[in-house]
Amino acid sequence: MTHVGTTQLKRAARVILVGAPGVGKGTQAERLMKRFPQLTAVSSGDLLRNAVNKRSPLGQEAQSHMKSGSLVPDNMILQLILSELQAKDWVSSESSVSDSEPARPSDSPSASFILDGFPRTSLQASRLDTLIPVNLVVSLITPINIIIGRIADRWVHAPSGRVYNTGFNKPKLEGKDDITGEPLTRREDDNEDTWKTRLKKFGETSEPLLEHYDKKGLLWTVQGNSSDEISPKLFTEFEDRFCC
Ligand code: AP5
Ligand code: MG
Repeated sequence: MTHVGTTQLKRAARVILVGAPGVGKGTQAERLMKRFPQLTAVSSGDLLRNAVNKRSPLGQEAQSHMKSGSLVPDNMILQLILSELQAKDWVSSESSVSDSEPARPSDSPSASFILDGFPRTSLQASRLDTLIPVNLVVSLITPINIIIGRIADRWVHAPSGRVYNTGFNKPKLEGKDDITGEPLTRREDDNEDTWKTRLKKFGETSEPLLEHYDKKGLLWTVQGNSSDEISPKLFTEFEDRFCC
């Protein structure tokens, strides 16, 4: 059934969003899920922040890496992602991150997903190839001077990962999540110094990561000064690839 303003996928979209911190990965993932209701998104940053909030052993170890703006170790994020992919039934519970041959993924539209923030390094990408092969890698590009202005205005609903911005995408009620009415909070890593470290890390890791996927013919780049400029291009690309 098609709702007004929504579009049905005809085949599985297994998509990764890559981009600088604050480029709008979370924002675009939310918009894609509204437009294509069969999609589900997983954000590695949200998974880590949930682990930190729960004070799990992994969360306690991840916290200092995240607070300083550096990446958490590959093996840590791989374990976290693997259990999430298994919990969602996207990969079999027998798979491990060292398997060399992935099972053939389902082409059913209901097996569609977006990964926001994972993989981040070429090693993570090679491991994901052995778990489940993706079929589109979106590189989001916005000038850095525009992104930096957004970070100070970001507020999040931590339990769901919903993102607001007091300048561009205000909540209906100040300081409250639109859906649950629960309080919005600031992220621990949302300050200019940490953001600069995150950006530097992104500069170091993104080139080999994008090259990994470019060689496989999976890379698609979209540029824009704002998420409003990027979203329509992204919707059209999804429709061309997955809806006909
Ligand atoms: P993560 O949570 O993934 O953070 P990030 O990559 O730094 O990206 P952000 O979430 O900050 O930005 P975004 O692109 O989602 O932008 P958003 O939509 O919010 O990772 C955090 C940390 O976890 C890492 O530093 C690392 O330590 C660790 N980690 C995560 N994954 C890992 C991995 N795979 N390996 C190792 N470590 C890992 O938008 C930003 C703001 O802009 C919002 O306020 C939004 O409302 C606003 N905005 C969006 N569009 C517009 C617009 N058009 N105009 C104005 N404002 C806008
Ligand atoms: Mg995000």
